[in-house]
Amino acid sequence: MPSIFQPDFPLPRTPTAGTPHDAAAPAAITKADTQDYFTEVADDYRAWSPSYNMHFGFWRLGLNPFRREGMLVEMNRAVGRALKLDTGTEAHRCVVDLGCGAGATARTLLAEDPALHAVTVTNVAVQNRIAARLDAAAGVADRVAHLEADYTRTGLPAAQADGAWAVESACYADGTAKADFVHEAARLLKPGARLAVVDGFLLRPRPGRLAGWLHRLWADSWAVPTLAVRDDFVASLRAHGFEDVEVRSLRWRVAPSALHIPVLATRFALVELWKARGRLSPWRRKHIVASYCALVLGLFWRDFDYCIVTARRGRPTGPAAA
Ligand SMILES: C[S@@+](CC[C@H](N)C(=O)[O-])C[C@H]1O[C@@H](n2cnc3c(N)ncnc32)[C@H](O)[C@@H]1O
Repeated sequence: MPSIFQPDFPLPRTPTAGTPHDAAAPAAITKADTQDYFTEVADDYRAWSPSYNMHFGFWRLGLNPFRREGMLVEMNRAVGRALKLDTGTEAHRCVVDLGCGAGATARTLLAEDPALHAVTVTNVAVQNRIAARLDAAAGVADRVAHLEADYTRTGLPAAQADGAWAVESACYADGTAKADFVHEAARLLKPGARLAVVDGFLLRPRPGRLAGWLHRLWADSWAVPTLAVRDDFVASLRAHGFEDVEVRSLRWRVAPSALHIPVLATRFALVELWKARGRLSPWRRKHIVASYCALVLGLFWRDFDYCIVTARRGRPTGPAAA
């Protein structure tokens, strides 16, 4: 009988795609850089979203494109729908957020489903402190646990989660296939449960010269090692036992919220530069640069897309399934 803290059947590790010559090849960004970045800019995200939705929005008919927060919350709902959770039941169900920020997605889903429980994972301590405060205000604190851990090695028990997601966080894992991240997601999910990943993706390992340069500037500025290459990521999901992999472009859904960037980032930069007498710390400066880059990167349709990728955890096969 395998320990619940161990994978219950062998999961292959896919090699990380990319050669040093690829524009998408991992740069020198480390996990420590990512942690420093998110620690330093933790308060800055409030300018984008008072409830700390640290992602782009999902526009649909009926939503006012000038109201950013409504679209950001709708992205959380889109993730919830993609998990296809059994909502008609009172049974205890538990979902996991891999790379949770201040836990906004879990708060939305928990507030709308009283039988749902969540574990959220971030490797940045201050985000969990912000999350705890917001959970209490939302009345969901008794159904959520915030774990400070690396999402590639959570230490959570295997095959217990009814669903898992990563919103704009899988990109922080190493390599263009994000194999370590996928490995841990596969380990945590119950057979039949779904993973939803919302993120930017490179559409080819060697983007055009300008798009490649912009991707590198954006990634360095937001402390991302590299975006996933879409096909590498899909192959990684399949290699780790995921089935029914579906990729849906959200390019047009996120565009209305992305168009908030120029005004918001410019106002933010001016106010913060004024307050700091022109001396913003390097990560805070890069945070502003990355915001503009994200908008421009979205114009390179041949090289870049913003997608939701969903996949169902297959049933274990082989000796360990017995
Ligand atoms: C852009 S934020 C998105 C946060 C959240 N998903 C949301 O949409 O509000 C990326 C998140 O991934 C987390 N993250 C990055 N690398 C991580 C890792 N190795 N382990 C756990 N969390 C990680 C960051 O700390 C941050 O919380």
